[in-house]
Amino acid sequence: MSLFLDLPGLPFPATNAGIFHRDAPLVLEIGFGDGRFLEWMAKSRPEWNCLGADIARGSVARAFKRLRRAGQAHVRLHHGSGVFLLRNILPDQSVTRVYVNFPDPWRKKRHAENRLFQPSFFELLAARLTMGGSLLFTTDDAPYYEQTVALALKSGYYKVTESPPPAAVLQTKYASRWREAGRNFYHAHIQKQTGHTPAIPPQIQKENGMHHALLNGTIPEITEFEKVIHHFSEGHVVILDVLQMIGREGLVFVARSHEPDLIQELFIQLRPAEKAEADLLLSVMNFGNPIATRGTSEAVKAVSRWLTQQNLTLSGTYY
Ligand SMILES: C[S@@+](CC[C@H](N)C(=O)[O-])C[C@H]1O[C@@H](n2cnc3c(N)ncnc32)[C@H](O)[C@@H]1O
Repeated sequence: MSLFLDLPGLPFPATNAGIFHRDAPLVLEIGFGDGRFLEWMAKSRPEWNCLGADIARGSVARAFKRLRRAGQAHVRLHHGSGVFLLRNILPDQSVTRVYVNFPDPWRKKRHAENRLFQPSFFELLAARLTMGGSLLFTTDDAPYYEQTVALALKSGYYKVTESPPPAAVLQTKYASRWREAGRNFYHAHIQKQTGHTPAIPPQIQKENGMHHALLNGTIPEITEFEKVIHHFSEGHVVILDVLQMIGREGLVFVARSHEPDLIQELFIQLRPAEKAEADLLLSVMNFGNPIATRGTSEAVKAVSRWLTQQNLTLSGTYY
């Protein structure tokens, strides 16, 4: 069984039992860093379904090694934003607890939009938490702490209890770092206490089948390539580079699609079409487990357009 959340194989939204193959309280850690706290949860709370998200590739690699060694069946990792999981994957009133330990405070005013805790976060959380479910938040940053508690209370969905952080939270990498630096810690138990929950639909729809296009003509010789940026209503795609296949006829376009809280790195290949009634097939490679979304569709569209400027003609599109 994979330790990673199988997003290409899951419906959006998924069910807790669909992800973990059992019904159990669902607990999400956002920003697991090196995975120490997630490992503690998986080992000491075997009765929970533990899901972790982190946007940093290095964190995901470290946590993966740690959790693979731990060998627990009821833990899943996601390389990406926890907000994406809350918004698009986890159903309403399905999450029992969310842990956030030492989130980046983004202290400068001009970086405030990068902070995890925004008014919209508390609305979304209220929709996805079970009744009585909680966010457990720990930080060393007093202003961020106060601001977060104020945002939670202002939303009207929560009651807040302040206390020293739980012992396991004090074992994380950042807890150790800030303890050595002599910083104070602040911890809030932010508990949903209202039956009224906002309706917040998923923002990203998964589409059926991966996007592709058929083209006629010959594979162009590439002597130079300039980055292409393609905008669409909910995001944009960047085609970063194009590579020549070695020992095979074909090109691979390296692209990145940006949608709300979802960035996908994509490899889009142009190869002779073996079965289709056209010369060439442009398709998204499975490498990196891409999810078929508007972003992949727009990426294939952007590459197709670029190819038509190289004297290829489109003969069929699925995007
Ligand atoms: C300061 S570190 C704390 C790591 C860990 N919790 C600890 O206590 O050692 C913050 C972590 O949050 C991750 N992060 C930031 N924004 C995120 C988001 N929206 N979703 C998931 N992870 C996020 C960062 O990549 C980083 O690993």
